[in-house]
Amino acid sequence: MRIPLVAGNWKMNGDRRGVARLLDELLASRVADGAADVMVFPPYPYLPLVSERLAGTRIGWGAQNIADQDGGAFTGEVSGAMLRDWGCSGVLVGHSERRRIYAETDAVVAEKYAAARRAGLAAVICVGESLEERDGGRTLEVVRRQVEAVFARNTDDDFSTATFAYEPVWAIGTGRTATPEQAQEVHAFVRGLLDARAAGLGGRVRIVYGGSVTAGNAAQLFAMPDVDGGLVGGASLKADQFAAICAAAG
Ligand code: PGA
Repeated sequence: MRIPLVAGNWKMNGDRRGVARLLDELLASRVADGAADVMVFPPYPYLPLVSERLAGTRIGWGAQNIADQDGGAFTGEVSGAMLRDWGCSGVLVGHSERRRIYAETDAVVAEKYAAARRAGLAAVICVGESLEERDGGRTLEVVRRQVEAVFARNTDDDFSTATFAYEPVWAIGTGRTATPEQAQEVHAFVRGLLDARAAGLGGRVRIVYGGSVTAGNAAQLFAMPDVDGGLVGGASLKADQFAAICAAAG
């Protein structure tokens, strides 16, 4: 059985005081007391604060990005070992904002996934098509290419702790959510790719949905058989909304 995951991607938002307040509110609203795993992904500078407040609680935390190298002369990068040092258990790789704005290719995403594995971090691998690609009928082709690039660089066993996040680019931060049926179609497709990769893998690996998940639409999305929770941006910055989304996951 797959345990649902609700993950909050805070992106480049917040300051020290606001992060402390949000953490207090998340703890007070007992977001992780349900059946779902709950994680937050703060900006790097707040990892010490997050680890201090969340250590010993049921809320996990991770980083939004990771270097593809393990250490050395890579100015501005942060390694998986450093993330482990601050108690991270997971990391996002291949978020569409990294792919589009910072030109991360499929090959770079695959390298970052390998780096996360070397550091013992559970990665959330983000895939998803642009509006142009969807309108052109290329959604499944694009998602297949993104998933298979990560497969090609990594061995079967490497996926035991992975989570995939289907995040259609046109739904991120736009208030336009994929319908539960649209999400289900792609999630089932990704599960099929996992099964083709290794017998039984599809049944074990979580596939979460991201893109304008709110307290209002989470329950419908999470009710789909292949949607194992959500990766939440905007709504994860408000404790009451995030708590409602966590509750919708079980
Ligand atoms: P959103 O972001 O919920 O604000 O659309 C989701 C994401 O980018 O992970």
